[in-house]
Amino acid sequence: MILVTGGTGYIGSHASLVLHEAGHEVVLLDNLSNSDAAVLDRLAVLAGRPFAFVEGDIRDETLLAQVFAEYQIDGVMHFAGLKSVAESVADPLKYFDNNVAGTRTLLGAMSAANVHRMVFSSSATVYDGSQRPPFAEDAALGASNPYGNSKAQVEALLADVAASDQRWSFALLRYFNPVGGHESGLLGENPRGIPNNLMPYICQVASGMRESLTVHGDDYPTVDGTGVRDFIHVMDLVDGHVAALDYCMKNSGVLTANLGTGTGTSVIQLIETFERITGNRVPFQIGPRRPGDVAESWADAAVAERLLGWRAKLGLPEMCRDSWTWQSTLARGDV
Ligand code: NAD
Ligand code: UFG
Repeated sequence: MILVTGGTGYIGSHASLVLHEAGHEVVLLDNLSNSDAAVLDRLAVLAGRPFAFVEGDIRDETLLAQVFAEYQIDGVMHFAGLKSVAESVADPLKYFDNNVAGTRTLLGAMSAANVHRMVFSSSATVYDGSQRPPFAEDAALGASNPYGNSKAQVEALLADVAASDQRWSFALLRYFNPVGGHESGLLGENPRGIPNNLMPYICQVASGMRESLTVHGDDYPTVDGTGVRDFIHVMDLVDGHVAALDYCMKNSGVLTANLGTGTGTSVIQLIETFERITGNRVPFQIGPRRPGDVAESWADAAVAERLLGWRAKLGLPEMCRDSWTWQSTLARGDV
């Protein structure tokens, strides 16, 4: 059985479904701080049966001991974490406590229960962006905010723990820019308040919830002056997790792998593709650069292909289509 922390969140919910489809038993753990229990109903529709769920916090040692005692856990997919860069700048202690100390507590419970495999959600934000992309795993590191630092600190902790005992097996997966949702329109990203990220913002403008998008800068040294990112479909991303879990079952130590498509797309190119695929207009205006943004970021995804046999299959059209299908589900109030 696989424990999925953050299982009702955006990526964790998709991962829980594909784990089930790959034949794994799954138990989800989430404190619902950034997700809704209604996700469980939609997962049950998609899987044809309910998923085991524990409402609780990864920092709760007693609860974790109970979970590991009750379920026969073979490995952990660890998605639970806070992910707002702006909030992390305002409250770094909260990010250290939740993301770093939370992972430490989880590792203690795993160790006590003799569970030694974990797939961890890291981020391309650990790269310092000083080199030109594509970023390979050995590119210079240096996160520029407390959120990114929390990911780097967990990566370092996992490396130290793995070095202390060869039973441990960790996959540190550095995500680039996950977008899209399950093609059914039953799972997707539902940000609270004003979206920080580009794709949810585009969807809200297209659906009429917001008047227009502000493009943060058009004077970068890129193809059209706007920022370039490696957008990756969430279904591809979670397939990479299943492959990484299989890898952890067979290997010990630390695997660090980027999960991206290896292709850069500019903000304007994404808007144009979204308009073409969905038939919606996305009015936008150019604003100033957003502090902390790098000009360009895309992955060198060769390690994941070589060691996991994984590569992204879905392209920008599918990402736009499935983001919009999900937005339409939200607009109907079906979730
Ligand atoms: P999300 O907020 O949708 O999901 C995270 C889930 O974890 C939420 O359901 C939240 O309620 C839960 N959670 C948070 N703190 C918890 C705690 N202490 N105990 C139990 N549950 C807790 O975010 P997501 O986009 O699905 O991201 C999943 C992971 O991937 C995060 O660790 C995030 O930092 C990482 N990541 C995300 C992106 C991205 O662009 N979405 C990029 C890189 C890395
Ligand atoms: N952008 C806009 N307007 C918006 C929102 C974003 O022009 O309203 C631009 C940004 O300036 C950037 C691009 O769209 O050029 C992508 O921005 P996102 O906020 O969607 O994504 P980021 O690459 O900045 O950040 C994401 C996650 C972070 C993570 C990082 C890792 O949000 O949590 O990827 O690469 F750390």
